[in-house]
Amino acid sequence: MELDGRRVALGVTGGIAAYKAAELTRLLVREGATVRVAMTAAAERFVTPATFQALSGNRVCADAWDADIGHGMAHIDFTRQADVLLVAPATANFLAKAAHGIADDLLSTLTLARACPLLVAPAMNRQMWNHPATRRNVATLTADGADILGPVSGAQACGETGEGRMLEAAEIVEEVIAHFQPKRLLGRKVLLTAGPTFEAIDPVRGITNLSSGKMGFAVARAAREAGAEVTLVCGPVALPVPRGVARVDVVSALEMRAAVMRHVAGRDVFIGVAAVADYRPETASEQKRKKDGNTFPAIELVENPDILAEVAALPRPPLCVGFAAETRNLAEYAEKKRRAKNIPLIVGNLIADGFGGDTNTLALFDDDGRHDLPLAPKLDLARQLIARVASLLENPRASH
Ligand code: PMT
Repeated sequence: MELDGRRVALGVTGGIAAYKAAELTRLLVREGATVRVAMTAAAERFVTPATFQALSGNRVCADAWDADIGHGMAHIDFTRQADVLLVAPATANFLAKAAHGIADDLLSTLTLARACPLLVAPAMNRQMWNHPATRRNVATLTADGADILGPVSGAQACGETGEGRMLEAAEIVEEVIAHFQPKRLLGRKVLLTAGPTFEAIDPVRGITNLSSGKMGFAVARAAREAGAEVTLVCGPVALPVPRGVARVDVVSALEMRAAVMRHVAGRDVFIGVAAVADYRPETASEQKRKKDGNTFPAIELVENPDILAEVAALPRPPLCVGFAAETRNLAEYAEKKRRAKNIPLIVGNLIADGFGGDTNTLALFDDDGRHDLPLAPKLDLARQLIARVASLLENPRASH
């Protein structure tokens, strides 16, 4: 569980999105967090405290004069026991009060009195969100160190469409998890590839492989959690992009190469997790190929460009990391690829361990030798890989 041992103080303010805070509470608890909820009076008009009490297993606080909490010091006691204060949904009114240090109810008071970081997930009508007063308040809160999560654009409860929709509960949980990860790549720019490529034979057929994209998406998420600005170029996969990661969809190796070359300038790191097809049909038939009943069709193949090797050969290349999936002789083949592509770090995995599943076993090969990462969820491994990448960035002598 990602939030084991973490204590989350959850503030719920009075917007229609308050109903999503119930699901948020459930998901936070499911990830192992201890959740204590504080509601404003307006929030209680949308959802009752009994809902949050049942989901969190803890008493809900709404009253600054609640005599049962912290010897009458509810505002101090509440956040003293929290690792983070998360306000979701956060109304325009709450943002205004928090930005100006107004403390006229329990939630605004404990926001002012807190010693822990503040995360807010705004939810409001698009005009309220775009109002200069709200813009100023958000800028003030950001300057004060608060993390503003969303909002996103979409259909709103008022019937309008625009920016102001609260993130989904699962997305907020992803942000809370990210909040607790060490910021090893703060200010760094990372470009990645993930998934398979699809090399067309005709309009309906092609050459591809079984990469699901899970490993690459996990590395993208880990890089973003570590504070990097991340762009993920991915082949055809059916996975939701991690929060905050810019996604570029491609199909073939040639498209992947073009997208990588378009985005590579100014990057600190390039990580090639994609299983790029080594070959493509020389020509893709515009019409569906038909059986003629007599001969087996031949497909002429030509070699695809090696994207990783091309990036590594740029005049001022980013730190380049490759992946190698093998059925045998992992160390030998991975090292061979590392040298051939002239890259400082390659990540070896066995095809039986890595393709398709949620877990993997990795071996990192660099100038310091081999470092094994035992079987674990792909996200855990991705975080360990990112830690290694960060240390190579800090110590360029160890990289090429
Ligand atoms: O997507 P999943 O189901 O989670 O599976 C993950 C994975 C097994 C696909 C992943 O962990 C992995 O190992 N990816 C690399 C697969 C591989 O063996 O690639 P390769 O040996 O063909 O290439 C070596 C490196 O060069 C890779 O970084 C690859 O992205 C890069 N390459 C290869 C060929 C090419 N034309 N261009 C490239 O950039």
